[in-house]
Formats: sequence, structure tokens, C-alpha cells
Amino acid sequence: MIDSSQQIGFSDYASFDERVRHLKVKRDAIVLAHNYQVPWIQDVADHVGDSLALSRIAAESEAEVIVFCGVHFMAETAKILSPKKQVLIPDPLAGCSLADTVTAEQVRAWREEHPGAVVVAYVNTSAAVKAEVDLCCTSSNAVEIVRSIPEGREILFLPDYFLGSHVARETGREIALWMGECHVHAGITPVTLRTRLAEQPEAQLLVHPECGCTSAALYLLGAGELPAERTHIVSTGSMVDLARAAGDGHVLVATETGIIHQLKAANPRATFEAVNPRAVCQYMKMITPEKLVAALEFEGPNSPYEITVEESIRQRALAAVEAMIAVGTPSLTGE
Ligand code: 13P
Ligand code: SF4
Repeated sequence: MIDSSQQIGFSDYASFDERVRHLKVKRDAIVLAHNYQVPWIQDVADHVGDSLALSRIAAESEAEVIVFCGVHFMAETAKILSPKKQVLIPDPLAGCSLADTVTAEQVRAWREEHPGAVVVAYVNTSAAVKAEVDLCCTSSNAVEIVRSIPEGREILFLPDYFLGSHVARETGREIALWMGECHVHAGITPVTLRTRLAEQPEAQLLVHPECGCTSAALYLLGAGELPAERTHIVSTGSMVDLARAAGDGHVLVATETGIIHQLKAANPRATFEAVNPRAVCQYMKMITPEKLVAALEFEGPNSPYEITVEESIRQRALAAVEAMIAVGTPSLTGE
């Protein structure tokens, strides 16, 4: 159990930053933060990025301790790649509604119905699910991972229906899709997108492929209602790369709102606006400055913040995760 009396409030960023710096040196730790984290966590982190970039850093890091400020499956992925490191998450209950839509048992049953199929899992899955699949991917390399599968092989993709549909369209491959969704991205609907575009017809549009509005964006693109050079369906890391090139224009952003902090830092001249300002992942926001400090301060055995993955599961998941980090260009957003 986590002792909440350890959670000391910080009245200013400078004292929080100083405390984290001191503890990082003491513990030989690095802090990784996903683009959806609260601003103070993003600012204090050694690296901020999307799932792919952070997994790669976790795999290469020489630090003794990796503190993963993100959700549980991300910290588990770091542990799969770095079994000798201590991997901590400031709140082990920070889950993911999308990862929760599929269990290892369900994957085994799906495989049995499709003998010989190649099973591709989005990184937003538990370690137990990763142990049952052939390949993992993130939103930045899902298309390339599926393209690497020989033509003619049956493909099963899980758990995100919207990302899987996007990959099927991009690759032209027939893919059987699991019907999972992220409640935050499913809430960014075609109606919301159309309304915001009508208000800002000249805006650039950045859409995460998990969004419920991805198909609508592509439809509008195909119908000539959205110009191709202003519409991008990309991972959070690629959104930051595109923000740098956005000049002083208006940019509509269809993903979790935490990314806006990185987009503004990448380009202070542009105006970034969330397509749905209520698209907030409550799991990502469970990581607070106080919990990060508490995780770094706990030095005894059996840390309640420590991520463990059973060795037989880790070994079975490793090949799929290694295939994931080997493909695609890293997109690191902040240091
Ligand atoms: P990215 O890999 O694009 O950062 O996405 C991760 C995620 O959880 C999206 O909800
Ligand atoms: Fe999971 Fe959705 Fe939160 Fe991403 S935004 S961590 S997919 S619940």
C-alpha cells in the first residue's frame, strides 16, 4: 500500500524540480514522461515522448532506476525491455481503458479460431497479452509493422478498432480487428471534428489514429473538404515534430489535451486548440508531482511503486516488443 502521508505538496515548481534532481542523483534514476502527463511532470522529466520513443530510451538507459510517468502498460513495457533495472511508476493504479478491453485468455481463444494468423498487438496491452502475440506496435509504427508481414498471411490486430482500421486503410491489407477502444479518443467524434473545422476552416489538423473521428477526417480528406497538406493522422511524438513546422497558424489537435503543453513548447508562435477540450485521460493524470517524489524517496525493499513482470511472461513478450522498438523513426519531444 502507498502511504499517502508521504505525499508532500509543492507550492512552486522550483522546489519540486530541486527535490527531483536531488533524488535522481541519489538513486541513479531517470524520469520518463508521456506526452499526456501534467505540465510539471513533463517539465521535470529527463525525456518526454510517445510510447515508441520512451520504450527505446528505457531499453537503452544505463540508470539503475527508471521512473515511468505514464500508465501501467508503459512501465511494464520498460520492465520487459530492461529486466535488470528497477522500474517504478508513481501510481501503480494508473491503468488504461483500452488495454483493459482484452485479456490473455481472449487472445488465446481468438488465435485458436484463426490458426496460422499473425497476431499484432498495440503497445496499449498488458504484459500477459503481449506474451500471446507475434508482434507489437505503437501508433508511430503500426503501419510499418503490418507492412512487414508477408502478403497472404492472415492478420489479427488488437485491441484498438480505430487504429486497426487506419492501418488496414493505409496498408490495403485485410485485417481482423478486435473491437476495443480508448474512452478518451472515442469521445473525439466525427460531429465534434466537423464543428471545430467549420469554426476554423484554415486550421492544420493533427489527429491521433485512436480517435473516433479518424475515419471522418479521412472521409473529409477524400471528399476534398480537407487539404492533404494540412491533415495529419499521427502519433503524439509526430504531432510535436509537425508543430515545429506550423509557423504562426492555428492548429486543431485531436488527442488527449496533455499534448498541448509540448506543442506550445515546440512552437510558441502557433495557436493550438483541442478538438475536444474534455478529452482528458484520468489515468495519465493520476501521476502527480507528490507521487513522483514519493516513488523516488521510497528506498526500502518491496517498493509499492515497483513494476514486476513474471519472468516466463516477460520472456514470451520480449520478441514482440523487440520487434516493435526496431521499426520506425523515434519521435522524442522534450528533454
Ligand atoms: P502515443 O504512442 O502516440 O503517444 O499514444 C499512446 C497512447 O496511449 C495514446 O492514447
Ligand atoms: Fe489508455 Fe486512452 Fe489513456 Fe491512452 S488516453 S492511456 S489509450 S485510456
